[in-house]
Order: sequence, then C-alpha cells, then structure tokens
Amino acid sequence: MIQAHDKPLPQHLAFIMDGNGRWAQDRGLSRSAGHRAGAERLRDVCYWVLDYGICHMSVYAFSTENWRRSTQEVNGLMRLIPDFFHRYAAEMRDQGARIHFVGDLDQLPAATQKIIGQIQANPPETHKLDLYICLNYGGRREIVRAVQKALRSPDPLALADQLDEDSFRNFLYQPQMPDPDLIVRTAGEQRLSNFWLWQAAYAELYFSPVYWPDFGQADLAQALDAYSLRQRRYGGEKSDNTHP
Ligand code: FPP
Repeated sequence: MIQAHDKPLPQHLAFIMDGNGRWAQDRGLSRSAGHRAGAERLRDVCYWVLDYGICHMSVYAFSTENWRRSTQEVNGLMRLIPDFFHRYAAEMRDQGARIHFVGDLDQLPAATQKIIGQIQANPPETHKLDLYICLNYGGRREIVRAVQKALRSPDPLALADQLDEDSFRNFLYQPQMPDPDLIVRTAGEQRLSNFWLWQAAYAELYFSPVYWPDFGQADLAQALDAYSLRQRRYGGEKSDNTHP
C-alpha cells in the first residue's frame, strides 16, 4: 500500500480505455481520430499517475478481439501505436516510466515489433513507474499460453504435482507484475472484456461514465477516492486496503 495525499492508493492501477469511438462520433470525427485523442490522453494519465507516486500502471490498448474491427480502424491503430512511441517513448522514459509490452507481440506489424524491441532493450536506469501496455492481449489467451508453456517444461508430470497458484504465475506474461488493485473502465460499460482475467481476482472495479479522451485529472482523483473507501477483504476478514 502506498500512502500519499493521506489516502491509500493502489499499487497497480489498470485502465480499460473505452469510449474513443463515441468521443469521435460526438464530434463528427473518424474513429481513428478518437484513438489519436485517446493516445494523447494516455500520455497525460501516465504523468498524473507518476505524480501520485503509483508504481504500476497498465492499459488495455489492443485486445485479441480487436482484430475483428474494420480494416481501416485496425490499420489506423497499428499506425498510431508505433507513431505514439516514436513521439513519446523517450520523454516518458525521462519522466521515470519503464515501459513493458504485454500480449502476443509476435503477431503485431513489423514496425510495432521494432519499436517495442527498441524500447524494451533500453529501459531507464532508474524508474518510478512500471507501465504495462497490453497489445494483442487477451486474458483467456494468456491463460492458455501459460498452460502451453507449463506443458512444454522438461518434466510436465512432475510439474503437475507441484503446480499451485503462486508457481502458475511464472507462466503468465509478466510474472513479476503485482495484480491490479484497481481497474478503471471509462465510457460506462461495466465488464472486463477479457482484461487481466487471472490477475483481476481481487481487483476493485471502478466504472466512469466519461469517454477515455475526456478522462481528466478530476476523474482520476474521483476513481482514487472511491478506491480509498473500498473495504478489501480478499475472501477473509481483513477490511483495509493492504495487500494480502
Ligand atoms: C476502446 O474504445 C479503445 C480501443 C479499442 C483502443 C484503445 C487505444 C488507445 C486509447 C490509443 C492507442 C494506444 C496506445 C498505446 C498509443 P472504442 O473504440 O471501443 O470506443 P467506443 O466503445 O466508443 O466505440
């Protein structure tokens, strides 16, 4: 638990950045323009989160299901993602963000894989925030991949006897990442949509009606205030915001 601003803050704050399309539609713009505005907001939110002293932040940027969108929208996102990191990765690094990419990355376009490789090969010497960008990520896919990795171990039968919830974590994409304490979804829908299915077991969920590109500092403060009032029991009797 991090104590800042006199309130318990999440150690890991996750975002489902929804509502880019509706934000654009309200303005007579293309969905791609909505995603561009959403990307700019991601940069802002990252800096606000850094200011709070929160150490882990994750965002659902492209799901394994998002390939079903129109070719135009998918291509727009696939151009936007490397563009965004070409523009901002160095600045984010200087501000103290260590960026990780999570998902089936080898299915992404070459330009995206290239910048991902460059960013991950040059982590900052010191960092204040671990920022996890989920790209071609799906919670069910992550669990299936984890089972496949476990079955490929040298002695899968011995592993079957030893495997428990803690050791299973080693087969997930980011074994070291703490589970999200708070998942914020913008734009009013109230579902996880295949995000962090394993890791969300005890996450607090917060739903904001605001479209992602409009999600401002006051909206973030409201989400964090709501979190600070939640009673976290992890199935037991504990009724505070400390981690299990
Ligand atoms: C959901 O809104 C949003 C997405 C599928 C993409 C999220 C991507 C970004 C915010 C920007 C790109 C990310 C990076 C890392 C640069 P929606 O399109 O489903 O909105 P709608 O429900 O209103 O249609």
